[in-house]
Amino acid sequence: MEKKIILLFFICCICHGLTIVSGAVQVDFYATKCRGAESIVQQEVQRWFSGDRSITAALLRMYFHDCFVRGCDASILIDSRNTRNKQSEKDAGPNQSVRGYELIDRIKSRLEAACPMTVSCADIIALATRDSVALAGGPSYRVPTGRRDGLVSNPAEVNLPGPSLTVQEALKFFTNNGFSLNDMVTLLGAHTVGIAHCSLFKDRLSRSDGSMDPNLFARLSRTCAARGDTSVSLDQSTSLIVDNEFYKQMRLKKGILKIDQQLALERSSAGIVANFSVNPKAFQQAFANALIKLGNTQLLEGRLGEIRKNCRAFNPPQQKQRQPIPPRKNFPPRKPKNPPPRKGPTFTIPFLAP
Ligand code: HEM
Repeated sequence: MEKKIILLFFICCICHGLTIVSGAVQVDFYATKCRGAESIVQQEVQRWFSGDRSITAALLRMYFHDCFVRGCDASILIDSRNTRNKQSEKDAGPNQSVRGYELIDRIKSRLEAACPMTVSCADIIALATRDSVALAGGPSYRVPTGRRDGLVSNPAEVNLPGPSLTVQEALKFFTNNGFSLNDMVTLLGAHTVGIAHCSLFKDRLSRSDGSMDPNLFARLSRTCAARGDTSVSLDQSTSLIVDNEFYKQMRLKKGILKIDQQLALERSSAGIVANFSVNPKAFQQAFANALIKLGNTQLLEGRLGEIRKNCRAFNPPQQKQRQPIPPRKNFPPRKPKNPPPRKGPTFTIPFLAP
């Protein structure tokens, strides 16, 4: 009898363990739940990219701004009109120029037609970013999925680093989210694509402090004197390609944002910049790993959060699967169990029972 009870106990433990694992993020999470989900994302990103290559920059920024506020839970996608107090993360200053929402809508509507309420908006951001990076010449990597969408989107919670910070000041934001200096320098390599508005770096043009190449200084001064808030490429060399050119440009004092330029000037980060500037492979590998790690920030998994029907709105009450939970501090930071790019499914994070 006693033996039987012990056996039953072990069987229960194993079953419980399986449930736990099936609720965690893992590579190919949708293989059985929505076959073809990743190819739908890939097709739509490819279609968009062929008409607008700047979508890579848009998605990279959206991914970062989503993951650094309440974790990667698609809280950035909620429209303000769809919240009770008519305000959402989109209203916060740093998010005003975030773009790419229409592509996410397009992907979501195809996924809803194929597998209703199965693929989260948070996973769509992670997958679309991954695909757009590869299309722009960046690394190809496998990204764990199984994230759930959040139930809160509050502009007051948007606390992102500003462009005029020193490396040490910016680093605080990253260490608070479990990232190292190396991770930060690697992730800022995302500025290899995209643009910045003059208003965000005009302070560097009021007088030369020697940190900017004189020709660039003269050119930007002319461009930014024009009416309206003009924008310029963050990478003055290959602004549509995900490559290590950004780091070379920083070493030539051709950084646009103060924080980017400081990476090459401050002692703590200059060595990392120098290494990436001469080692394109090292950058590509590190960038893939850093993006996977970014996508693991404070995840809602298992039965937490919900799978939104419309990425711009929380589900109406009758469709709600779970009540909101308070934001979880990322301490201790979740260990990155990143799979090496293009390798098989190796990634599981234990499910945290609510
Ligand atoms: C200290 C950290 C960071 C600061 C201070 C910062 C700041 C900025 C600023 C001021 C802009 C220009 C926005 C505009 O003019 O509209 C920008 C653009 C951009 N950021 Fe960052 N950023 C940081 C980290 C990151 C990270 C980690 C990523 C992605 C992994 C990222 C991706 C981008 C991209 C791709 C753009 C161009 C967006 C576009 O073309 O629409 N940034 N960033």
